[in-house]
Amino acid sequence: MEKHRFQMDEMDDLLLNISMARGLEEIMTVVRQSARRLIGADGLAFILRDKDDCYYVDEDAIKPLWKGQRFPMEACISGWAMQHSEVVVIDDITKDPRVPQDAYRPTFVKSLAMVPLRPGDPFGAIGAYWSTVGTPPDDSVYSLQRIANTAAVAMANVALTNSLAEARDEAARARDAMILAMASLAETRDHETGDHIRRTQHYVRVLAEALNRREPETTGLDEEFVDLLYKSAPLHDIGKVGIPDRILQKPGRLDRAEYDIMKTHADLGRTAIATAERYIGSSNPFLSLAKEIAHCHHEKWDGTGYPRGLKGEDIPLAGRIMAVADVYDALVSERVYKPAMSHNEAVDIITGESGKHFDPAVVAAFDEVAPQFAEIHRQFSQPI
Ligand code: C2E
Ligand code: SIN
Ligand code: SIN
Ligand code: FE
Ligand code: FE
Repeated sequence: MEKHRFQMDEMDDLLLNISMARGLEEIMTVVRQSARRLIGADGLAFILRDKDDCYYVDEDAIKPLWKGQRFPMEACISGWAMQHSEVVVIDDITKDPRVPQDAYRPTFVKSLAMVPLRPGDPFGAIGAYWSTVGTPPDDSVYSLQRIANTAAVAMANVALTNSLAEARDEAARARDAMILAMASLAETRDHETGDHIRRTQHYVRVLAEALNRREPETTGLDEEFVDLLYKSAPLHDIGKVGIPDRILQKPGRLDRAEYDIMKTHADLGRTAIATAERYIGSSNPFLSLAKEIAHCHHEKWDGTGYPRGLKGEDIPLAGRIMAVADVYDALVSERVYKPAMSHNEAVDIITGESGKHFDPAVVAAFDEVAPQFAEIHRQFSQPI
């Protein structure tokens, strides 16, 4: 006997299984499968509060009880137990005025114990029923209480987990929608279509993946970073929203003054995203990366870019990747100020700028995947 003292008994086992259940259904199934026998009752019912009704959700009994039925809170024992947040023990149901006799007459029930789920503010109850008159044993009622308390905690955890997951999904969807809304705003002003956004996303991903394959140690772009890059790329030109139409949509070449204004789009973008970041109030990897890309996508490897004239690896890698993707798309696309160029001409220009405009490592990766760039451009181009 001594050696069994530290072994889990059946009750411990049941309580553990209830705690580990991952959903309401599973909690009820676990309870249904073994609670009645452990309590030593002839029937067991799981009742949930549904506004002003008691809903008999599940049961395990020698003969049918009320599964699937609803009773008003005022007209059943489970309702009374919930409203008073009290355990109810009835040794003879015919003698208790709280018992709805009509509902009990067709059943085997002669005595019962009803325990609310979650003391203080019950959201349901578990009932145990016997086919004989007499006070249910104390240890049966005690077991029922332990089961009910564990089930209540497990159910609250399930609800919490579900609502957290929902909130997280909703936030992610809202974020993705906002990104696309902001990006399309910039692109519309720029007389671009949504295709440009999608192309840019795919270019940066293809480029980042190629870079990873070529130099896994030095770049160390993990999958999460590549995904983040993919999602933030559409915001690279968000700052163009702040550029006047007469410049942004000028059909011809920009003069020096106009170009100086045009160049402010990198800082404008950085500021806009930094503002969003401040409102969020915590650091957010997506916004940090989007800010970096908006700020740095016109820097050049040799230090002659804007807005800060950063040089080499002082330019964040995301900016160096975006630069190649951005220029490729600008070259092979028609702009108000210039006609489209062929894929091969664009590849020649980009290759020729290795070590000048662009990071040589990124250009080498681009060389490898250039056919995929052509494919992406072809795939995401509506005829105008
Ligand atoms: P964008 O049209 O998206 O061009 C992005 C970048 O692609 C340019 O950055 C430039 O580095 C490269 N690029 C575009 N077209 C050519 C080209 O024909 N040849 C070469 N070698 N590179 C090219 P950049 O120059 O800093 O321009 C930033 C933005 O300013 C452009 O974005 C565009 O919106 C505007 N922009 C630049 N030049 C002109 C212009 O002459 N007229 C007008 N209306 N807008 C211009
Ligand atoms: C950027 O704005 O370039 C990203 C982070 C920073 O340097 O502010
Ligand atoms: C840029 O390269 O112009 C943006 C980089 C930066 O200034 O943070
Ligand atoms: Fe730009
Ligand atoms: Fe661009």
